[in-house]
Amino acid sequence: MHPVSNPSRRRALKTIFCSSALLSLNLGSRSVLEAADGEAIDLLMIGDFGTSGEDQRKVAAAMRSFCERKEIRPELMLLLGDNFYSAAKDGFSTESIRWKNTFEEVYPADVFPGACWAILGNHDYHDNPGGEKVQLAYAKKPGTRWRMPAKWYRFDLGPSSSPLATIIALDSNLPTVSGGTDKKTGKARGCLTEAEAREQHEWLVAELQSHRAPFTIVMAHHPLYSNGDHGDTRALVEQWGPLFQKHGVHAYLCGHDHDLQHLELEGLRTSFVLSGGGGAKTRKLESGRKMPYGRDIHGFTHLRVAGDRLVFSHHDVEGELLHRFAKKSDGSHEVI
Ligand SMILES: [Fe+2]
Repeated sequence: MHPVSNPSRRRALKTIFCSSALLSLNLGSRSVLEAADGEAIDLLMIGDFGTSGEDQRKVAAAMRSFCERKEIRPELMLLLGDNFYSAAKDGFSTESIRWKNTFEEVYPADVFPGACWAILGNHDYHDNPGGEKVQLAYAKKPGTRWRMPAKWYRFDLGPSSSPLATIIALDSNLPTVSGGTDKKTGKARGCLTEAEAREQHEWLVAELQSHRAPFTIVMAHHPLYSNGDHGDTRALVEQWGPLFQKHGVHAYLCGHDHDLQHLELEGLRTSFVLSGGGGAKTRKLESGRKMPYGRDIHGFTHLRVAGDRLVFSHHDVEGELLHRFAKKSDGSHEVI
C-alpha cells in the first residue's frame, strides 16, 4: 500500500458521477469531482452499525487508527444499512440527536471527510416508521457527507474519462424480504412498495445493460448468500442472482448478518462480501458451508480499488487484518 502524501489535493482530484432513480425523474443532480489517472481509491464499509453504543464506537475507533497507521485517507464510506436501530426518543427527524450520536460524531469529518454513501436496511424502515424518508431528506442538507440520493442509485469511481468501478446501490427491502407484519405489534412493516420494487428491478436491468466501468460492484443490505444467523435470502437469489451472473458483477456487498464474511460459490462470477460487524451485537454463524471466510466478530471492511483489481480486507476492532482477497476484472479471485 502506498501512503497518501497529499490527501486533500488527491481527494479534490477524484471523480464521482452519480445517477439514480430520482435523477431519471430529474429530481436530483449529478455530482462531479475531478480525478487523476492511475491512482487507487481507498474506501471503508460497515453495516449494521447504528446503535449509538459502545461497540459501534469501538469499530469507528479501529477504522480511525487503521487509517492513521496505514496512512490512508478514505475517499468515501459505504454504509450498508441498519444505519439507525431502535426508535429515536426525540422522534426521528433530520434534526434528531441521533444524527449526531450515531453518525456525525462517531465518524467525524476530520477522519472521514469523504462522501458516506448509505443504503436502507430493514431496521431503517421498521424501527422508526417513515425513517427511510428522514434518511433521504438528511442527504439534501447543505454540506452533509450523508449521501442517499434515492433508495437506489449508481455512481462511478475514478476519472470521468476512464472510471475504475461502477457502484450500484439497491434497496433490498422488497415486500417479500422485509414486508409482512411485525410479530410483536401485528402492524404492517415498512418496505418498498410493489411498484417501487418493480421500478427498481427495471432500473437495475437497464443499468447492467448500459456502459459500466471495468469493475461492477452492487451493494444492498440483505445478503444473497450467508453463513450467518439469517442465512440466504431466497427472493434475492432468485431475482438478482441471474442478473449478476449474466452481467458479470464482480462483487456484492451487504450486511444484515452481524459478522464478517467472504463467500465464493462454485460457478458464480460474483464474490460475496458481508460486512455486518459495524456495532450491533454479533450473532453466531450458523453454517460454514460456504467458503472461504466467516467470523462472528465486530469490525469493518477496507476496499482498495486499483486499475487492475479490487482488494477487500476485513479488520477487527483492533484494526488487525482478518482476511483479504483480490478480485480481478476477469472475475477471478485470490485470497492474499
Ligand atoms: Fe438488517
